[in-house]
Amino acid sequence: KSGYITIDPGFKNTGSTTSAITFLDGEEGILRYRGYSIEDLAEKASFLEVAYLLIYGDLPTADQYAEFEHEVRTHTLVNEDMRKIFEGFPVNAHPMGTLSSLVSAMSAFYPDSYDSNVPADTEMHIIRLMAKMPTIVTWSYKKSQGHPVNYPDNSLDYCSNFLNMMFALPVEKYEVDPVVAKALNKLLILHADHEQNCSTSTVRLVGSSQANIYTSISAGIGALWGPLHGGANQEVIEMLEAIKADGGDSQKYIDKAKDKNDDFRLFGFGHRVYKNFDPRARIIKKAADEVLEKLGVNDPVLDIAKTLEKAALEDEYFVSRKLYPNVDFYSGIIYRALGIPTNMFTVMFAIGRLPGWIAQWKEMRENNEPIGRPRQIYTGPTERDFVAMDKR
Ligand code: SDX
Repeated sequence: KSGYITIDPGFKNTGSTTSAITFLDGEEGILRYRGYSIEDLAEKASFLEVAYLLIYGDLPTADQYAEFEHEVRTHTLVNEDMRKIFEGFPVNAHPMGTLSSLVSAMSAFYPDSYDSNVPADTEMHIIRLMAKMPTIVTWSYKKSQGHPVNYPDNSLDYCSNFLNMMFALPVEKYEVDPVVAKALNKLLILHADHEQNCSTSTVRLVGSSQANIYTSISAGIGALWGPLHGGANQEVIEMLEAIKADGGDSQKYIDKAKDKNDDFRLFGFGHRVYKNFDPRARIIKKAADEVLEKLGVNDPVLDIAKTLEKAALEDEYFVSRKLYPNVDFYSGIIYRALGIPTNMFTVMFAIGRLPGWIAQWKEMRENNEPIGRPRQIYTGPTERDFVAMDKR
């Protein structure tokens, strides 16, 4: 009765908060983390430096970085009892499902005091999430290969440790290729935050009820899994593979995407905010050429992606709707060249996005934002009397 309610499906024209973390301009294709351009950060920073920047607000000094990096490096071990949970999953379980379950389980292994007068040890939870998520992610891969899991190695930096846990085998030592580690570092930085996207809004909404950080991040992982969001990077490669298997006829798939009676979408294209080239896609496309060339990988799917992009950017349907390649269009091609399997692409997105989720959750809690509780316009039946079962 009081005032009026406007419905804004998908919150296309609704701002949910104010934030000092990430700035993006959809028209100009600009993305900055705490004022620094992603072009600079992707080229000059390490992923943990960017994580520190997002979470604490400034690039770390050498001492601040040394302490943060040491904390992360020395908390990578996961409680052995979590492995019992993990062992219970079927071998073909999707890594996003195991990841969201185990991150949620962390709230049981690292609980805050149940006495709400005792403040949560948020700093330690942040370190544990940053340190343990890569370990948990690599377990899924090792299990899917029928290989024993690897333990983290504290002598390695963040990206090298991840790659070692992924690819080392008891029968042969794994040598980290600096080209691979550098490419992974760049990809993680480019995925680190993106203002109020679907999964970040989910993390904020769950956190707004004062739920703990683990369960809030786990909810974000669930939202990211969807094919319209982070799950698109897996869909893109599957789509490109289908085009290749179908004789490489990109136009046929562009026509399918335009056909209103066909719910097929050109995955990796379009964005709620960017109505110009996604700046991340521009950087990743360039990196794809460089990384594949340096690794001596020739992936026909990259050529199909470029042909598809060119055809779409010349097609009235895409041009009129301002549909450009987004972050997910080329990222899978690099992950694949690094040896990461398709069903692991979205968990790679989650590892990259983790510092952004943490930073946004922390900002929401520090700003004492109210619990998220939107209204609705009711469209159901008007009042009616109960009817006994034998009269229905
Ligand atoms: C990410 O929000 C973020 O910041 C997300 C993200 C991040 O970093 O967090 O950037 C990461 O999720 C990138 C997006 C990955 N998703 C995909 O690549 C899936 C394919 N893209 C679409 O589903 C779509 O473009 C969305 C979901 C990304 C955006 O959807 P919107 O803003 O709700 O736009 P829409 O669905 O209303 O589309 C507008 C029009 C429609 O046509 P009409 O109804 O006007 O005739 O464009 C069409 C859509 O049918 N359209 C597409 C299309 N994307 C939109 N048509 C064909 N192929 C597509 N990919």
